[in-house]
Order: sequence, then structure tokens, then C-alpha cells
Amino acid sequence: MKKRVAVLSGDGIGKEVTEAAVAVLDSIGRRFHHKFEWVYGLLGGAALDEAGHPIPEETIKICEESDAILLGAIGGPKWDHFPKELRPEKGLLQIRKHFELSVNLRPVQAYKTLLAFSPLKEEVAEGVDLVFVRELTGGLYFGEPSYHTDDQAVDTLVYGREEIERVVRFAFELAKQRRNKVSSIDKANVLESSRLWRKIVEEVAAEYPEVEYEHMLVDSASMKLITSPASFDVIVTENMFGDILSDEASVIAGSLGMLPSASLRADGFGLYEPVHGSAPDIAGQNKANPVGAILSGAMMLRSTFGMNQEAAAIEEAVRNVLEDGYFTGEFKVDGSNVLTTTEMTEKIIEEIEKEL
Ligand code: NAI
Ligand code: MG
Repeated sequence: MKKRVAVLSGDGIGKEVTEAAVAVLDSIGRRFHHKFEWVYGLLGGAALDEAGHPIPEETIKICEESDAILLGAIGGPKWDHFPKELRPEKGLLQIRKHFELSVNLRPVQAYKTLLAFSPLKEEVAEGVDLVFVRELTGGLYFGEPSYHTDDQAVDTLVYGREEIERVVRFAFELAKQRRNKVSSIDKANVLESSRLWRKIVEEVAAEYPEVEYEHMLVDSASMKLITSPASFDVIVTENMFGDILSDEASVIAGSLGMLPSASLRADGFGLYEPVHGSAPDIAGQNKANPVGAILSGAMMLRSTFGMNQEAAAIEEAVRNVLEDGYFTGEFKVDGSNVLTTTEMTEKIIEEIEKEL
């Protein structure tokens, strides 16, 4: 197959980790006989510097002409004083809205060899394999009116039936391919929008008798994520709860650098990016963990291109390299197995091409 991918490296380590993901996807191309065409666009601070806008028209055009988007990370202290409309984050919010990326997937896995780095006890983190399905283009972050004066501030939490149904259905479909369990998280004891959410979960669940499901209140869910994270399979929730809870759960894996994400449109088009930011403290030092970006590439293969075997090959290569005891430097281990970004990437590529 031939696929065209827009690469928006962004700022800081964004460039280093997207290069790693591109190299790994090219090796998948060699092994499985696909051709990836990479088209580079500016986003975030890099775009502000070169084009005066966090998301230039040209970048939108490049994305529109591509089959998927691979993104690094955006932002950094250099642009922190910029006005709200010209902040790097604005670029990302605008892409989500423009491309109607309404479903955000964030898987969290605890790899055996990294359990010691999780802030949770090893026996609690062991076996964690969960995925957040977060609604991404509705709720409090996009509701109108939204304003503040000196004396009052207003945000609005709105959800429509279609928005809820789309993301809930996605979660049930996903659960069918995993362990058949959905945990829906809301605040139905207080919020009207959560009461509608719960009602729609009930309706959708009726169509999936094989999938076990539960409703949880966001406050108790936030505790359970820490006390028994391995009990979760698919977690579906609205925009803000998903933002907070997925960051909470991300620490289980032992490093932010490990985690991938996907933001999907209803037709399968998607934007893929590691969960971490631009990490100005380590940028340009060949130290960044490329695994989150590389696994985001695997998600692209599976969710947008339907290349399941190819995605699994990346995931297996990552698992093997970690199990062989290779890490990047944020895992503080004494010894010689600490690799640079490029060395870690090479190891993963070697593992993929073993089968050639
Ligand atoms: P961050 O995720 O960039 O860094 C937090 C800590 O984790 C740092 O110590 C960093 O060195 C480490 N880290 C992050 N990714 C790593 C990797 N791949 N390998 C090894 N270590 C890694 O978050 P922070 O520091 O809060 O934000 C820095 C900038 O990134 C800010 O401008 C922020 O707005 C932006 N940001 C952008 C995001 C995006 O592009 N989606 C998401 C989060 C933050
Ligand atoms: Mg967040």
C-alpha cells in the first residue's frame, strides 16, 4: 500500500521523536512492502517563528492532502508570553476542531521490565493494560458562552446526543476487540450532561450484550485508577474528565515518554502523537524516549490504515527491546543499557527487520 503522512514535528523533542517514528515506519514499509510518503509541515512554536502563526494555512493544506497526521510535540518557554490566540497550543486545538477529531485514544500499559519505575507498587501496576476513550471536541473546553469579566467567569458544559453516542459506541466496539469490558466515567450525581451520558451508555450497551459495562463516578474512579488499575479495560469518558484521568493513569507506565495517543475522526482519519510535551529540559540532546512516538505510529497503522499485522510488529519489537533490558535515560538504571534516542530507535528497527 502507498500512504501519504503529514509530519508535524513541532518543538523541542518533537523533532527527535517524530524522526524516530518515521524511521521505524519506513522499516515496516521495507518488511511489509508499503511505501510511506512523508510531507513535513510547521506547527506550534516552530510555525510561530517561521510563519508568524501557530498553524499556518499551508500546514492545514498538507494535512488535508494526507491520509493521516503524525505529530511530535509543541510549546516551550520561548512562546509562553505570547497572547492566547498565538499560543502554540492554539495550533493543536485548532487541528482537533478543524479535522473533527472527536475520539481520543490513550492506551496505558505497564511493561514488566519497567514496573520498578512506576510510582505504584509493582504488584498493583503489574498487568495494567487499559485504554482511555476520551471525547475530544465537546464539553467544557468548547462550550459557549465562555468568557470572564473582573467579577465573573463563565464556562459552559454542553453535550449533544450524537457526540456522546459516537464516542460511547467507539468504546464498545473497541472493547469487543479487547477484554469486553467498558467503564463509563461521569458525574451523574451532580451534572445533567452526565445524566444524559449515562442514559446513552445504557442504550448503546443494550446492543452489545457480550460486553460487560459499569458506570463510575469520576471521583471514585480516580481512586480506583491508583488502587486497582489492572481492573480496567476500556474507559470511556467526556473531555475534561478524560484529560485529567488519562494524565493520572499515565504515570503507571513509569515514564511519560512511553505513551502513545490517537485522535480520530469518524471516517478513520487520525492524528497520532506521543502523550508527552516538548520537554525543553532535554531537547536537542538525543536523550528523549522515542517509544511513545513509535507506538503512536503503530496506532496509525492499525486505526487509520487497517494494517493490524504491521502495528503488532512494532508493538512486539518495542516489547522485546524493553524485555532485553534496553531503556532511554529517564529510567535511572546503573549499567550500560541506557540508550540514546537514536540507539533505542535502531534497536527497535533491528528487531523489526530480524524477520526480513
Ligand atoms: P513534558 O511532557 O514536555 O515534560 C515533562 C517531563 O517529562 C520533563 O522532565 C521531560 O524531560 C520528561 N519527558 C517528556 N517526554 C519525554 C520523553 N519522550 N523522554 C524522556 N523524558 C521525557 O511536559 P512539560 O514540561 O509540562 O511541558 C513542556 C512544554 O510542552 C510546554 O510548553 C507544554 O505546554 C508543552 N506540552 C505539549 C504537549 C503536546 O504537544 N501535546 C503536551 C504537554 C505539554
Ligand atoms: Mg492534558
